Amino acid sequence: MARLAAPATAAVVSSLVALVTFLGPGEEDNTGPAEDLGASPASTTIDNRDPSLPRFRLADVRKHDGKSDHPWVTHEDKVYDITDWVAAHPGGDVILRAAGGSIDPYWDIFKIHKAPYVYEILAQYLIGYIDSVDLVNGRPAAEEIEDPFEQDPIRDARLITHTAKPRNAEPPNEVLDKEFYTPNELFYVRNHMWVPVVKEKEADDYQLSIELPDGDIVHYSLADLRNRFPVHRVTAVLQCSGNRRNDMTRNAAKTNGLQWGVGAISNAEWEGVRLADVLADAGLQVADPPTLTKETGALYSATTDGAAEVTDPNTHHVQFSGLEAYGSSIPLSTALDPRADVLLAFGMNGSPLPRDHGYPLRAVVPGHVAARSVKWLSKIVVSDEESPSQWQRKDYKCFGPNVGAKPDWDSAPAIQVMPVTSAITRVWAGDCIRKGRVPWLGTGAAGSKLEGWSAPKKEGNSNTETPTTASEPIAVQGYAYSGGGREISRVDISLDGGRTWDQAELLGDWDAGGTRRGTQHWAWKRWRYTGNLPSSPTGQGGDSKEGADRCTTIVVKATDDAYNTQPENHSSIYNVRGNLATAWHRVRVCLPPRGGEGERMGDEKGLAGSTGRAYGCGFGCEESGQILGQTNAK
Ligand code: MTE
Repeated sequence: MARLAAPATAAVVSSLVALVTFLGPGEEDNTGPAEDLGASPASTTIDNRDPSLPRFRLADVRKHDGKSDHPWVTHEDKVYDITDWVAAHPGGDVILRAAGGSIDPYWDIFKIHKAPYVYEILAQYLIGYIDSVDLVNGRPAAEEIEDPFEQDPIRDARLITHTAKPRNAEPPNEVLDKEFYTPNELFYVRNHMWVPVVKEKEADDYQLSIELPDGDIVHYSLADLRNRFPVHRVTAVLQCSGNRRNDMTRNAAKTNGLQWGVGAISNAEWEGVRLADVLADAGLQVADPPTLTKETGALYSATTDGAAEVTDPNTHHVQFSGLEAYGSSIPLSTALDPRADVLLAFGMNGSPLPRDHGYPLRAVVPGHVAARSVKWLSKIVVSDEESPSQWQRKDYKCFGPNVGAKPDWDSAPAIQVMPVTSAITRVWAGDCIRKGRVPWLGTGAAGSKLEGWSAPKKEGNSNTETPTTASEPIAVQGYAYSGGGREISRVDISLDGGRTWDQAELLGDWDAGGTRRGTQHWAWKRWRYTGNLPSSPTGQGGDSKEGADRCTTIVVKATDDAYNTQPENHSSIYNVRGNLATAWHRVRVCLPPRGGEGERMGDEKGLAGSTGRAYGCGFGCEESGQILGQTNAK
């Protein structure tokens, strides 16, 4: 650990606003010829650009990479020496990622920076032009421009990709909640930028800096964190605020953002050290810290002389910054709460963090929107301000259904603790069940659970539909989750569009075999249900054009231990960003007409991998009036 005095500018937290900035087209520089740093002789092709500035070959630019004392970047056909700017850059040295090459691909990621004031800031750094020899139609050839995502990891082919660069992907429904702990390679991925490269052999020396309110900066290496603090394990879900956004779009109105299905959520066991312990060790002094127990290992020292840096943790924030420039924050009171289990994590499901999930270090803030669990964590600032990043101040907020795309951002708090939600992930119907396709029901063989299947009429079943010999068996599974450490206490399921209800069985994963880790309920609950489809569904359940008596809508909603439950429809919680799409989850299923079709729908291919739809077999999944499965099945 090393302690340094903070430079005055360090208090300016990593705003991305000027992170990757450069002169805009047409900006002129009046500073005269730059020092000759490798300028090439005049090119023979016609070059009408300012003759008073030198020309540089791209090979020369490459020498001025992030390790150089004089880092350069290019934009379009111009060359900039950003040496003096790096130190003053509010986003820190992230700009160096582009040094030695074109800043344009970064511009494509950080479109927000296309603002006139950004051009003005950097106008002074223009030193010359790219030599015409290296230009094709006035720009460097495409192959000369670095792909910021070139070193991203290779991902599991089963993930459903929403965007490849940056990578955003969710597990398909058939594997999403197959296991209580989502396997690392199937854990959903939400990246705003590229995946930073930290070499394995350098991981122990990986540095985390912590800036305290008095300006002191304390550094910890990864080895320091591992060796000097008690290691804790916490089982926790991470869920993007955009999970089920696609559902809101289909059922309410257009939303901006990645159109996640039900898979922007996953569950893992995280291993790391408590943020509270590290802040205490760094010297943060709080006049009135929350009561800390021995088990937390926290060494909090409330000052006796009244000279605490922070008198009330509710007025302060812990800002996290990632290596690639992403940032967000949580209240200091959360960070210090011994029951909040906030970790600086280096392990995930018994392995080091995979690169996509923050290797070698990330914050894990259980029960909160995953946007606060900053990956590739490199800097922490304890401040009386929230993170200035757009991900804190804008993107992850919710507004009323009537508010348009340009709300008064400051009028709403940043999303922190997540509301209750649930989703159906798989459905099996009819012959698929009889043939033993439901893994957790076993085969339909004699002596199995399915022998002589009939409706399991449970006690307290409010389903008024009396199953008849004509009704079809149905099996459904899914997950339910609530934020803030609240436990899911009940999952209600309806097989007739919400007219009648029953309760699903909650799996005992959480407490089984000592898997519960952490002080509160941070994990999801998986649930299962078996029943009989109503023989003659009516209303919402039976109005399909195609085989009216063969369609129904399955609905699920969950309730947590504070009796919070999900809203009935997405219109009531609609917001343009499509955040917190937590309405009842509905999946419309249409059994195939009797005689032959059931087989086709039983191959589990017609519905595979589709987001926002249930995956399963023995039925078609109706969307836009079309029965999927009937049309897609081979
Ligand atoms: N941290 C960094 N450094 N960069 C990011 O893009 N994305 C955030 C959060 N932390 C992000 C980040 C968001 S919006 C989410 S939902 C989660 O990481 C996703 O974590 P995962 O990719 O491990 O599932």
